Amino acid sequence: MRPRGPGALFLLMPLLVASSAQLGAQNCVNKQQLLTAIRQLQQLLKTQETRFAEGVRSVRSRLAALQGSVSRVGPDAPPVTCPALKAPPDGRKFGSKYLVDHEVHFTCNPGFQLVGPSSVVCLHNGTWTGAEPHCTDISECSSQLCQNGGTCVEGVNQYKCICPPGRTGNRCQQQAQTATPERVVSDPAFSRAPRCAQVERTRQCSCEAGFQLSGVAGDSVCQDVNECELYGQEARPRLCMHACVNTPGSYRCACPSGYRTLPDGKSCEDVDECVSPQHLCPRGTTCVNTGGSFQCVSPACPEASGNVSYVKTSPFQCERNPCPMDSRPCRLLPKTISFHYLSLPSNLTTPIALFRVATASAPGRPGPNSLRFGIVGGNGRGHFVMQRADRQTGELILVQTLEGPQTLEVDVDMSEYLDRSFQANHLSKVTIFVSPYDF
Ligand SMILES: *[C@@H]1O[C@H](CO)[C@@H](O)[C@H](O)[C@H]1NC(C)=O
Ligand SMILES: *[C@@H]1O[C@H](CO)[C@@H](O)[C@H](O)[C@H]1NC(C)=O
Ligand SMILES: *[C@@H]1O[C@H](CO)[C@@H](O)[C@H](O)[C@H]1NC(C)=O
Repeated sequence: MRPRGPGALFLLMPLLVASSAQLGAQNCVNKQQLLTAIRQLQQLLKTQETRFAEGVRSVRSRLAALQGSVSRVGPDAPPVTCPALKAPPDGRKFGSKYLVDHEVHFTCNPGFQLVGPSSVVCLHNGTWTGAEPHCTDISECSSQLCQNGGTCVEGVNQYKCICPPGRTGNRCQQQAQTATPERVVSDPAFSRAPRCAQVERTRQCSCEAGFQLSGVAGDSVCQDVNECELYGQEARPRLCMHACVNTPGSYRCACPSGYRTLPDGKSCEDVDECVSPQHLCPRGTTCVNTGGSFQCVSPACPEASGNVSYVKTSPFQCERNPCPMDSRPCRLLPKTISFHYLSLPSNLTTPIALFRVATASAPGRPGPNSLRFGIVGGNGRGHFVMQRADRQTGELILVQTLEGPQTLEVDVDMSEYLDRSFQANHLSKVTIFVSPYDF
């Protein structure tokens, strides 16, 4: 709006008032002149009125336009996202934001190679710049590594050559001094007839993957390669996490009871028996999952003696009832006792932090200003140390390799001090179930 419009109207008012005052004071003013002046003023007012109305209309239409564009943009329009991506099997994904301009990267585990883009970007139309990649086994046998008719057998990140009679060396490059004795395989499933073709004057035979040609020219047979024996369980990385079972032309992996085989066919994963719908543990006990099995536990508070008694405040916690005012022996006993259960595989690489204990000060009350941590009991003391992680936290560190199956107990104490005077201590009883396997 032009500010001139209403401003001009206000200027007009004193002029009108002045004119009527003049009319009363001086009768000698020409009537005709006065009427002309009034008409002029009326004309002026009308012009101002029109301008003012125009201004209002213009502002109104601008407001309407602004309202239209604001509601079109709308703050409720959802942000554009691209479809969720998964890590490829045998690989990893980095990045979990699927918004416009965000990137997601992919890599494969050792022994695998990426097929497809290693990163994709989310576009404004909600699509990724590329297809999801996948990981494929790097074929160790793809190049002709075995010489003189040797059969190449794939392992994990490695290969081995099985040499024909009369050849030796890791690529069958050498002449053997003595012929290797033939293996006798009695199960007919493990030997197959070779596929042979007459090429010019010579008969050439070949076997399916996982079989090896053996025997002499006229009487050759395809015999299964025992991958499990060939690679053994000492090889790293292992063919199988647990047991290897040879099959005609291949092998499969087996897991111990209480474990399931993962989709990769090699790895074993513990089954959590405690989530199964059957009630495995008797009433009053709590199920604790362990590697390959489970335990039913019912932690008990210390029995009352003298002035000291405990009350169970949760399935895994006891609290001491208030001590008589002057009973120092009572005050030195743990104020709280908590129970913790951990399941570990055998042969963990040490040192490793297993358990943390910290204090939480009650609201409105000053907390302890110093804490002390220590190991005060249990049959596994020598395997652990207690270490301060920060001002408020202590850490139980496993320092010696554990081999299962075994169960260890370690009692961890945390004492609270306020201005160097002992306030209370808290006992954590940690039970550690070590599985017989290193997974
Ligand atoms: C999304 O945009 C990209 C490039 O701007 C284009 O190549 C692609 O075809 C579009 N996809 C869809 C589904 O519109
Ligand atoms: C119990 O507390 C009282 C003081 O309140 C004390 O005299 C008594 O010796 C305490 N008994 C035991 C067994 O500690
Ligand atoms: C743990 O390591 C020892 C020594 O390396 C080995 O003999 C044992 O078999 C391993 N145990 C398991 C369960 O892997």
